Amino acid sequence: MEKRERIFEGKTKIVYRTDEPDLIIQYFKDDTTAFNSAKKGIIVNKGIFNNKISARIFEFLGTENIPTHFERRLSDREMLIKRVEILPIEVIVRNKAAGSICRNLGIREGAKLTPPVLEFTYKKDDLNDPLINESHIRALKLASDQEVEVIKRYTQRINELMERFFADLNLELIDFKLEFGRYKGRILLADEISPDTCRLWEMGTGERLDKDRFRHDMGDIEEAYQEVLSRVEK
Ligand code: TMP
Repeated sequence: MEKRERIFEGKTKIVYRTDEPDLIIQYFKDDTTAFNSAKKGIIVNKGIFNNKISARIFEFLGTENIPTHFERRLSDREMLIKRVEILPIEVIVRNKAAGSICRNLGIREGAKLTPPVLEFTYKKDDLNDPLINESHIRALKLASDQEVEVIKRYTQRINELMERFFADLNLELIDFKLEFGRYKGRILLADEISPDTCRLWEMGTGERLDKDRFRHDMGDIEEAYQEVLSRVEK
């Protein structure tokens, strides 16, 4: 497998073509944004942490029969993935309230959400990724009804699996964001799963081990990502 030219550069990742049309390389940068890019910065070595953490989680979900785009990790910052057509939808699951749901609905941070809240946002930077529902997805033709059903089923199972996975590492999975893509007529879990895309709280103390440390200038950001990686690699 040969690395070829750059196809696309996003806020946190670069994508390269390979000599295989169905496979591409996802390179993880240290660049970090928050609040729809209103806040920008660098978390030193974040690309390494997130590549390795995501690789482990995709491997775990794969063994639990969740189809993902992940093929294998190639280097510290690169993974080989299937070239999917990313759906312009972000899928968010919230087990406890934190972040935007607290601001939008006036809920206390840490309040348990039973059953977990499922949100969809429309992936569109110039609109700040607005919240949408299934009828918007249908009217805007962002995904078929059948695809939405598959995504909901996978997402619920991924939440159960990841809650257990992180609980074994003494981390509470507060919320997370997923992206899915189309590949040869199937839906695959795509993008990344990392402390950028999950809120992880230390069980017992509630210490934040995720991007909220960057969002809210809490310090010890690299240490938090390193800590999550160390536990995931155990
Ligand atoms: P929020 O509380 O800011 O809406 O975020 C909910 C979860 O989704 C949190 O774990 C962070 C993650 N997320 C992303 O990964 N990308 C995004 O663009 C946003 C808004 C949230």
